[in-house]
Amino acid sequence: MAAQVGVSDWAGRRVLVTGASSGIGAALARDLAGHGAIVGMCARRTELLDEVLDDCRRHVPACQAWPVDLGELDALEDFVAQVERELGGIDTLVNNAAAVLSGTTDGTPWADVERLVRTNYLSPVRLTLAALPAMRARGAGQIAVVSSMAARMATPGESAYAASKAALSAWFESLAAELWDSPISVHLVYPALIEVESDADGDDALADSPNAAKHIPAPVCARAIRRQLERGDLELYVPTPVKQGVVMRMNDPEASIQMMADWFRSNPQH
Ligand SMILES: NC(=O)c1ccc[n+]([C@@H]2O[C@H](COP(=O)([O-])OP(=O)(O)OC[C@H]3O[C@@H](n4cnc5c(N)ncnc54)[C@H](OP(=O)(O)O)[C@@H]3O)[C@@H](O)[C@H]2O)c1
Repeated sequence: MAAQVGVSDWAGRRVLVTGASSGIGAALARDLAGHGAIVGMCARRTELLDEVLDDCRRHVPACQAWPVDLGELDALEDFVAQVERELGGIDTLVNNAAAVLSGTTDGTPWADVERLVRTNYLSPVRLTLAALPAMRARGAGQIAVVSSMAARMATPGESAYAASKAALSAWFESLAAELWDSPISVHLVYPALIEVESDADGDDALADSPNAAKHIPAPVCARAIRRQLERGDLELYVPTPVKQGVVMRMNDPEASIQMMADWFRSNPQH
């Protein structure tokens, strides 16, 4: 069995977390800084980002934040160069930022579909392509990507979002295979039902909770991602049991789509 690259010590490790102004990204930035990582973070909402930066700097003063609209694809190479200069390099890149778009498939404006694909798919691809040469030159690196269960079981009422995440997963799986057995590894995260509106923390056992209807606090998800990166695991489902949905999708596609259709009909907000 080939080995992926894990992390034995976060102290001094330089990590760029995109989309760190709220939710999973903010929780992960705080968690990694709490373990000694030099966290670089970016997002558009600067006030929220500065709050996360302040928390991180209490642990590691060298943490930094940059206000960036990741949908501006042509600016991303310069952004990565700036991060490498100002952070001293990127040992772990966590592509976490994404936007959600709800609406029926034929009721979603084309401009919104394009914007979502740019932010959720093209942007992490461009960031990764910009970060890879320095990782190759150093002969080390981790590239993580926060996808979604929607990539594995497309959600009705979120077709553009699900498609952007499916494309993301496919691209990073190809990259993982190309980099397999190399000192640079790829790590995919498949969250579902993560609670990002509250600051509440929770027991780590929730990440393995068989009750998938229960929302998992963002800090629990963040810790699960950190441990995934420490182990060097290729994939992580949070909560773990949602992986059963992927098995069902493969074994009985009609039952899977029927389940999604029933859920869609009983959720009129879509
Ligand atoms: N929560 C869940 O249940 C769940 C389930 C499946 C997958 N996910 C995935 O988990 C990741 C984190 O999402 P979350 O749930 O934590 O939601 P969130 O709180 O809305 O976080 C999204 C982050 O992405 C940033 N972002 C979005 N568009 C951006 C842009 N154009 N430029 C720069 N930053 C941008 C946001 O920052 P600004 O708005 O400040 O720019 C924010 O920091 C996403 O990839 C999401 O698809 C979450």
